[in-house]
Amino acid sequence: MAGTETQQDGLQENRVFNPPADFTAHAAIAGMDAYNTLCAEAAADYEGFWARLARETVSWHKPFTKTLNESEAPFYKWFEDGELNVSYNCLDRNLENGNADKTALIFEADDGKVTTATYRQLHARVCQFANGLKSRGIKKGDRVVIYMPMSIEGVAAMQACARIGATHSVVFGGFSAKSLQDRIIDAGAVAVITADEQMRGGKPLPLKAIVDEALGMGGCDTIRDVIVYKRTGGNVAWTEGRDLWLHDVIDGQADQCEPEWVGAEHPLFILYTSGSTGTPKGVQHSSGGYLLWAAQTMKWTFDIKPNDVFWCTADIGWITGHTYVAYGPLAVGATQVVFEGIPTFPHAGRFWETIAKHKVSIFYTAPTAIRSLIKASDTDAKVHPKNFDLSSLRLLGSVGEPINPEAWMWYYKNVGQERCPIVDTFWQTETGGHMISPMPGATPMVPGSCTLPLPGIMAAIVDEAGQDVPNGQGGILVVKRPWPSMIRTIWGNPERFKSGYFPPELGGTLYLAGDGAVRNKDTGNFTITGRIDDVLNVSGHRMGTMEIESALVANPLVAEAAVVGKPDETTGEAICAFVVLKRARPTGDEAKQLAQELRNWVGKEIGPIAKPKEIRFGDNLPKTRSGKIMRRLLRVLAKDEQITQDISTLENPAILEQLKQAI
Ligand code: WTA
Repeated sequence: MAGTETQQDGLQENRVFNPPADFTAHAAIAGMDAYNTLCAEAAADYEGFWARLARETVSWHKPFTKTLNESEAPFYKWFEDGELNVSYNCLDRNLENGNADKTALIFEADDGKVTTATYRQLHARVCQFANGLKSRGIKKGDRVVIYMPMSIEGVAAMQACARIGATHSVVFGGFSAKSLQDRIIDAGAVAVITADEQMRGGKPLPLKAIVDEALGMGGCDTIRDVIVYKRTGGNVAWTEGRDLWLHDVIDGQADQCEPEWVGAEHPLFILYTSGSTGTPKGVQHSSGGYLLWAAQTMKWTFDIKPNDVFWCTADIGWITGHTYVAYGPLAVGATQVVFEGIPTFPHAGRFWETIAKHKVSIFYTAPTAIRSLIKASDTDAKVHPKNFDLSSLRLLGSVGEPINPEAWMWYYKNVGQERCPIVDTFWQTETGGHMISPMPGATPMVPGSCTLPLPGIMAAIVDEAGQDVPNGQGGILVVKRPWPSMIRTIWGNPERFKSGYFPPELGGTLYLAGDGAVRNKDTGNFTITGRIDDVLNVSGHRMGTMEIESALVANPLVAEAAVVGKPDETTGEAICAFVVLKRARPTGDEAKQLAQELRNWVGKEIGPIAKPKEIRFGDNLPKTRSGKIMRRLLRVLAKDEQITQDISTLENPAILEQLKQAI
């Protein structure tokens, strides 16, 4: 699969890599003709296309007769009179079709210890877990917050909720007590499932203690139970009558549990994510449509085969860990690695070592991880992928942020050994699964471009009035038709859902992704040019600038704060905060110390991932005469670039000199 310089793509990228013929020969979508045929089927009969996939891919307890209901658009309903159970589809179905003794999960702990579970064992565990939850009075429609480390129990907790029809809301273990409290209250959860501690990079980190702190902050009156998985055996405080050990709740429970059959639109989960304004929003997903796309994209994008060993490195606290750890791989009966640790422990070759150890054939990770491992192997040759046996790999994937062409090439050459296609998958918490990505046995790949929409996904680029723009011209990324795995609403805030994702300015029917994009003139390939709102993407994690600003101004020392992103070689974007204190502007050591204090404060308010990389202090912020903060100037200052923009509307130009100075 040699690069040929025949195609203009992305922004300046002109390398093209065709899928290897032997990959195409066995691929689910074998060649561009097959891809085009599927797209044509969707274009000719949109509902018929989705109905066919839904009948082939999902096992229905009661078949659906209606495919798409648009009568209350944009509150679309898919397969609404069908009934199913997601956990049945992920577990029981595998017991029935010969996968009972196949390994479902290979758990690789932080310290390298391995625990596996076959489909039969996982099924039994999930049934016991589900019966345990039922014994605590948890039932269909209840919300359960899961604050767990990467573990077999974490996946089992999600599956157990799905089995009894409870709606889970997983909160990433790196979020603070305050963030956890906000989510518990917003979801109105009846229980929290957590662990005593989690292990990361050889160190135990508290989880239960953070749950205690969150509940202690008040307002979480809906919570009846805190169920604690003993991961490390570390010391934990105990509230009698509220706290329960997981093993006490589930040991001795029957290992069979009749699934709760739910309607296709029943909310499988809520997952909080950052938006450009206000507090994080609870993205609500369905059961039927979501499961369909989780499974279908495993087949199409990952070309999953019975003998594959799949490894998605994402945490279950993010959407990638929902769709491509907890649900998708199990729905197609795959064997997958579930990884507790971090890429740099005990050394920065851990990913490559783990691929060799478990003979991983499909590997899916984030550009940030790749970039940091490139750096690490530049300084320490021992951790370079060439020192590990990566011959089991046949397909690589990237997710969460744009992958720069250099990182793509390194991944392709050093990890994929020029043998493995790379699927650069563009999608979002809201989309439930992949939207734009190469099909590995079909699409010619271009470093840095996510190439073409999946069959059935009507992605397009429009201008600010919602009109199509010609290829080659940048614009706003939208999706023109609803698709089964799309967000159904924002939990408790349907108005915000409607106005945020289907803005009237664009006509009210286009789904607004929030990203800018451009299509190549010749190929139609999409390249994502970054968020068009105030959402930052730091190490593939979405952060709202407003959220960080609110956290900063909640500190008693802070009068005003403005947060912008600046490009970062490793994390994609880094957080840069401009802060005005209530006291005089600090300088020197005092400034350093206060900056550190504020960084820790943000870590406590939101979580360590939200800590600003850089903080600069000013007597004021650059504002227009009407008092509006000029963020575009702050973005230039954060990059340490010269200001060339017009600053004639600026009230206080002198402030710019001050804010140029990093501490
Ligand atoms: C960005 C993660 C470029 C984008 C699955 C999107 C990407 C946001 C890519 C969603 C990609 C994700 N290329 N940008 N392949 N994948 N993004 O909700 O800005 O955590 O809107 O979902 O990440 O982030 P989220």
